[in-house]
Amino acid sequence: MTKIKEVLHRLGLNDKLNKAVFNGKIYSGRGPEFDVINPSNLEKIASVRFANAYDYEDCISNMEDTKRRWAKTPMPTRGLFLKKLAVNLTAKKYDLGYLLSSEIGKTLKESYGEVQEFIDICDMAVGMSRQIGGTILPSERSNHVIMETWSPLKNSVGIITAFNFPVAVFGWNSAISLLCGATQMVLGSQSASLTTLATQKILVDTLKECSIDTGIATLCQGQGPLIGGMMSNDDRFDVISFTGSNLIGSKVATKVARRFGRSILELGGNNAMIIMDDADMDMALQSVFFSAIGTTGQRCTSLRRLLLHENIYDSFIEKLNNAYSSIKIGPATDPDTLCGPLHSKKAVDLYHDTISVALKQGAKSKTNLDLLNSFQAGYYVRPVLLEIDHYAPIVHEERFVPIVYVSKFKTLEEAIYLNNSVGHGLTSSLFTKDFRRAMKWMSPDGSDCGLININTSSSGAEIGAAFGGNKDSGHGRESGSDAWKQYMRRGTSTINYGNSVELAQGLVF
Ligand code: UN1
Repeated sequence: MTKIKEVLHRLGLNDKLNKAVFNGKIYSGRGPEFDVINPSNLEKIASVRFANAYDYEDCISNMEDTKRRWAKTPMPTRGLFLKKLAVNLTAKKYDLGYLLSSEIGKTLKESYGEVQEFIDICDMAVGMSRQIGGTILPSERSNHVIMETWSPLKNSVGIITAFNFPVAVFGWNSAISLLCGATQMVLGSQSASLTTLATQKILVDTLKECSIDTGIATLCQGQGPLIGGMMSNDDRFDVISFTGSNLIGSKVATKVARRFGRSILELGGNNAMIIMDDADMDMALQSVFFSAIGTTGQRCTSLRRLLLHENIYDSFIEKLNNAYSSIKIGPATDPDTLCGPLHSKKAVDLYHDTISVALKQGAKSKTNLDLLNSFQAGYYVRPVLLEIDHYAPIVHEERFVPIVYVSKFKTLEEAIYLNNSVGHGLTSSLFTKDFRRAMKWMSPDGSDCGLININTSSSGAEIGAAFGGNKDSGHGRESGSDAWKQYMRRGTSTINYGNSVELAQGLVF
């Protein structure tokens, strides 16, 4: 048996046809069949049978049956379930990571790291299960107090994930949403169908082990426009958490807003790293390298724009180029590989198109472009550094490929201006040893991104932090900090414990 067959088997899947829907009771799928191709060798891993509209309704009706029971389950009990889930994910970490690597081409190390994000957020949720509280506020009236209360949502949470983080984003949303007492439906990216299904199986097995009604967590894997469209329009979802492109994100947001639902949108970034001339150059180099190459440039936190102070411009590029020439490109599941393939043929075409458009707009390559087509079967490309005027139109687009645009600046003010000059606002990093520069970077005059890093990479955020961006990067936050509030219903209670009625604003009525 091949390794991937063994892994599929241990994860409860097979290498033939898998039912890609868990409707809350059984696995089903009455929609079209979809073949999953390994981007590292273009071999078929397995097929899945997607959902159709009937499968979708089954998922919803099973969630509807269970949602009040789950909402009434005490939060610490919900936390105990997440504790068990962390244990079960840990037991399957390497198999799930291997499948993820095989399916989307993420290197093994990074895939294990991604599964770890789900484990970590479960751990965090267990702690939160005895900590979440509301604020008590002073009242302007005597013998009154104002309290904020947080209750489970009336309806469910819909989670739509992207191909590049099918486990982590599934995890950030599920752990917090389930902790908060919501029922949920997940729709994963088509390209990550098997990984999404395997993750769901671990979740469902844990629910069974804890004797919890499995209808609380459904999976409706299918074609994005059909299932995602139904979810966005359906007011049985109070919240839709969407990760993906701006194009689809704006469609989702419009549909959800039309019915006064809440959306969390994580739409990627056009992220910059600024290297000042006083920076620790070794740290900067290592961090730039990771952010540029990690997940073959397909993280929404990936480095796209490298802004170098003019004094260190040439020397930094030289060092970076040396590092680039040592990148080991190869099959994602090969433990020595640093840069796996892109996830699809479409991404390869986008990569080539980006280089040709950038060259037309005046870019000069810092990488030997003759090496671009020197690979065997698989969606392989070579990470590229392009020197280009920051005002070239292509620099202002997010393109999900391992291409970094390098440009020069003179002052921190200019670099901040450039950082903020693009539509997106997800993540950003400044490298400096100067405390005043660092503080300015974090101040209202600094970076306008959701993630504002100092002396660390643009990618690789921890789960304890609120994750998300501003401007075209979307709105809302996932994962840590107070992101949980978006998965709950807020109430404000004014309590009069006195013996007379007193009106606010001193009103006498
Ligand atoms: C994403 O690319 O959608 O910060 C998420 C990071 C990862 C998550 C990325 N922890 O790079």
